[in-house]
Amino acid sequence: MLRGKKILLIISGGIAAYKSLELIRLFKKSGANIRCVITNGGTNFVTPLSVSALTEEEVYTDLWSLKDETEMGHIRLSREADLIVIAPASANLLAQMTHGLAEDLASTTLLASNRPIMVCPAMNPMMWQHDATQENLKTLKSRGIKIIGPTTGDMACGETGKGRMSEAEDIFTAVMNYFSANKPLAGFRAIVTSGPTYEPIDPVRFIGNKSSGKQGHAIASALSHAGASVTLISGSVKIPDPDGVKTVHVETAQDMLEACESALPADIAVCAAAVSDWRVDSYTTQKIKKGASKKPPSLSLIENPDILKTISNHKTKRPTLVIGFAAETENLDDNATAKLESKNCDWIIGNNIIENNVFGSDKNQITLFTTTTKKEFPISEKTIIARDIVDEIIHYLEANKLTQAAE
Ligand code: CTP
Repeated sequence: MLRGKKILLIISGGIAAYKSLELIRLFKKSGANIRCVITNGGTNFVTPLSVSALTEEEVYTDLWSLKDETEMGHIRLSREADLIVIAPASANLLAQMTHGLAEDLASTTLLASNRPIMVCPAMNPMMWQHDATQENLKTLKSRGIKIIGPTTGDMACGETGKGRMSEAEDIFTAVMNYFSANKPLAGFRAIVTSGPTYEPIDPVRFIGNKSSGKQGHAIASALSHAGASVTLISGSVKIPDPDGVKTVHVETAQDMLEACESALPADIAVCAAAVSDWRVDSYTTQKIKKGASKKPPSLSLIENPDILKTISNHKTKRPTLVIGFAAETENLDDNATAKLESKNCDWIIGNNIIENNVFGSDKNQITLFTTTTKKEFPISEKTIIARDIVDEIIHYLEANKLTQAAE
């Protein structure tokens, strides 16, 4: 099933565009979120209204629409999808993609995209056979673009040959196969900490912080979508547990550490929780009363265990890749690199919480620090940031030929 998968469907000009409506229906039925871009040519064959009615989403047609650019923008359209499907893909759109042309919303979105692309060509058999088209396809394939069809049969133009767009059911099956095969982290185990810790003062009061858990939960979800078996250790948050992820709920830093240690061994650990550095030394079992003394009570604090540091320095069960966060209000570079060293982790993901208003927001801006590199990512939805981080994890594991070790 495609539940929760985000698919961007681009419909270009061709009589086969009518099949795209059936494709949308199949995607929707299987739980996918579909957004559509229709080219100018495409609007001659299907109307934005019918596509919008089926997708239950806005339909995008115009690169220069002020409204669309303000609300969504072609960069976001291109980056938010888990997969881009072009059906039908005209000979013209294939040529634009090959040569990097950005002439309208569809071609610009494709040029701006770093997402996987599947094309379903549809054209006259002579156009399909033409050396230009075949050369273009060769180039597109060499860039990792998946080509579905076309098939052979009677064409709308009266000719017979190869050039018919694959049937909607076949494209749908190809998309299903793509998602079930594309699990690069299958067999890997991951631990993610997320949200705030609450350190009790008395039965009604606690020390907490503003963390919403959105970023950590999104990372757990993205790791799970990539096939990892994920244990999420969550502090008190108001967001739901992600689907497909084992979630352990904790309150305090000590509980969080205990839950992490029980979840080991793992191959990957991502410590995204905002752990309270201190807890109250003497927890009072009865509510502290205002009138109990003349002065406000003073709290004596002691240091909490450092979960990231403990995992990073684990003698027998250190995960292969340990990632921490550095939420800073100033000197991001210096503080992040200092944390990398002091915590003995492999990566630090830094974010400037004042500049980017991170807590509670749906957006984030991160910089990934390793011992030798620094990579900045654009401001994006936390779900996109999560996928970017997981893509980095996959590249790292592949580049270092690391296989799962956790048992
Ligand atoms: N962290 C942790 N356990 C703690 C404190 C922090 O696991 N007791 C982790 C966080 O989850 C994060 C990283 O350490 O991945 C950095 O957290 P941060 O609060 O930025 O750093 P601190 O070490 O607490 O330093 P400071 O508050 O002085 O910036």
